[in-house]
Amino acid sequence: MNDQADTHDHDPHTHSHDGDVDPFDEKAETWDDDPAHLERARMVADRIAQEVALNPSIRLLEFGAGTGSVTENLLSRIGQATLADRSGGMRAVMERKVESGRLAGARVIDLDLESDPTRCSNSSKVTADQVGPFDLILSVLTLHHVDDPKSMLGAFRQLLEVDGQIGVVDLDAEDGSFHGEGFGGHHGFDRRKITEDLSAAGFDEIRVLDCGRIARDDGDYTMFLAIGHRSES
Ligand SMILES: C[S@@+](CC[C@H](N)C(=O)[O-])C[C@H]1O[C@@H](n2cnc3c(N)ncnc32)[C@H](O)[C@@H]1O
Repeated sequence: MNDQADTHDHDPHTHSHDGDVDPFDEKAETWDDDPAHLERARMVADRIAQEVALNPSIRLLEFGAGTGSVTENLLSRIGQATLADRSGGMRAVMERKVESGRLAGARVIDLDLESDPTRCSNSSKVTADQVGPFDLILSVLTLHHVDDPKSMLGAFRQLLEVDGQIGVVDLDAEDGSFHGEGFGGHHGFDRRKITEDLSAAGFDEIRVLDCGRIARDDGDYTMFLAIGHRSES
């Protein structure tokens, strides 16, 4: 499987200050043209479905949903889907999929879980207090772009219904070659550390499982699926 779109941008990591150009905006229109992206989304969705019991009453949030391909593969097995991405280009692609029926009934939002909610009260961003609760939150290859993953996991927990679950798919710790020089995000995650962070964020029944690999000319990058459960309010 190839992931050249992620390889060649070399710096897809920006902070979401209003007015900045988001590099994912430039990739959005052609993201689904790469068969490797669609195949990866299918594989990840299948892996999640193997490990997390899905049913038509599940209210799903996919955070950093991109073009929504992972949720697209789960849509027939869940209830209401909410798709969040800070890239306007990615949201536009998802909106079109909602209209065409590929993401029928899904809600597409610009959910800000990193800023102080009071600072975005005048923007078009949706804040945590305006959404949820959810029964399942998924985030695929997005956490390595987030400045403070531990806080983000805590924010996810706050958005979950008691007994809800989180599923985070990301790269195992790598040497930085995945994005190349200039990347400001995280070089994957150590599985023990992600377990500790999930625990610190208040999750229990934590499992970290293999979730396939991204094969490229410069080597293979393995991924994990970390699952956590919210048991108390
Ligand atoms: C590598 S892409 C993965 C997209 C999709 N999850 C997939 O697997 O095809 C990462 C996505 O996360 C989004 N993203 C990164 N940081 C984010 C943040 N802080 N809030 C919302 N979305 C974010 C980017 O805009 C991008 O669409």
